Amino acid sequence: MRLLIRNIGCLQTPAGSYSHKGSKQGKNLKLYNAAIAVEDGIIKAVTEDGRLPEGSFDEEIDAEGKLATPGFVDGHTHLVFGGYRQNEIPMKLAGAGYLDILKAGGGILDTVRKTREASFEELYDKSSGFLDEMLHMGITTCEAKSGYGLDLENELKMLEVIKALGEKHPMDVVPTFMGAHAIPPEYEGRGDEYIDMLCNEVIPEVRKRGLAEFCDVFCEDSVFDAAQSRKYMEKAREYGFELKIHADEIEDIGGSALAGEMEAVSAEHLIAAGEAGMDSMAAGGTTAMLLPATSFYLGKTYAPARTMIDKGIPVAIASDFNPGSCPSLNLQLAVNLGYLRYKMTPEEILTAVTINPACAINRGDIVGTVEEGKQADIVIWNAPDFEMLCYRFGSNLADKIIKKGELIK
Ligand code: NIG
Ligand code: FE
Repeated sequence: MRLLIRNIGCLQTPAGSYSHKGSKQGKNLKLYNAAIAVEDGIIKAVTEDGRLPEGSFDEEIDAEGKLATPGFVDGHTHLVFGGYRQNEIPMKLAGAGYLDILKAGGGILDTVRKTREASFEELYDKSSGFLDEMLHMGITTCEAKSGYGLDLENELKMLEVIKALGEKHPMDVVPTFMGAHAIPPEYEGRGDEYIDMLCNEVIPEVRKRGLAEFCDVFCEDSVFDAAQSRKYMEKAREYGFELKIHADEIEDIGGSALAGEMEAVSAEHLIAAGEAGMDSMAAGGTTAMLLPATSFYLGKTYAPARTMIDKGIPVAIASDFNPGSCPSLNLQLAVNLGYLRYKMTPEEILTAVTINPACAINRGDIVGTVEEGKQADIVIWNAPDFEMLCYRFGSNLADKIIKKGELIK
């Protein structure tokens, strides 16, 4: 099947299959009056200045002079969960902190109860609906974490749901095991024993079944400390997983420093990251997976994105979609916050929602840019340029979504 996308006012895309740091983060190609030829889901040619790719085509899409970009890559989601947590909002408005609610057995642990109760089918149907919504908002690849099961049976159930979604849904879904997301009630006060159980029983089983590519841990005050996180990460590495770590979301207890030292692929959140942690990440080649909608929803400050770019840390921006700290899967909203709060440029932000997260989930050679040989995941936006997407707020500006060369919307 040969598809021609023509009449693109501006095709804006990072270039290459590697993550972009420092001044490279802000370099995008801008091809005006462009066209893209696609064959069997793969980009075959990209042209500009009104020239058209050679050959005949089975199908044509008229981009009507609008902006085209690579499909967005959401590199951090907690896509699969039972129930919701709207009941927490009055508590938060009355002054309870995120960790206060967790310590009282709510928060993540409330979602764990509901996820354990939910069947595979219930979780699958609900998450599949979220993926539909994400696709319609211009996200064509996402990562998805387990971490609301917190025992062997329910972590495997979550990962099986993620696997089935990746196989059946048009979205590409990349699985991460996050058994170290909280200490489950049956291990209350025994965090070390819980980490040992994950290391001895769950990590090996997840590897044996091939259910995840990454392991992630919530390194945070009153959740897992740096020593526990290190133990879990070492075991995960021994079993061939690549590493991710929720670090410095609320307190800097050494998570970002550990991320760099262990050469984690990415460290997530980093709201409270200090100089030493950031220097360690720069040295370790760790991507900063920043989650500005979570800062917004928790009423926190924003991660020091400009300092990170200056230090040569590749910056990615993701949704953190989850039922507690960020019940939004709208990555366009994160783009707005990247502009207004992180003070990143539109070009840096486009890199942060395409090639940088693609590399942080090991898909940089397949997606994240519009170039010959890459998968044809392309979004046409109701906007003339990417600056407009950074500026307009609250609308879904995705006009047409092309996933693996097929028009989805
Ligand atoms: O990335 N901070 C830890 N995990 C999630 C929130 C999970 C939840 O509250 O359910 C996060 O923000
Ligand atoms: Fe998260």
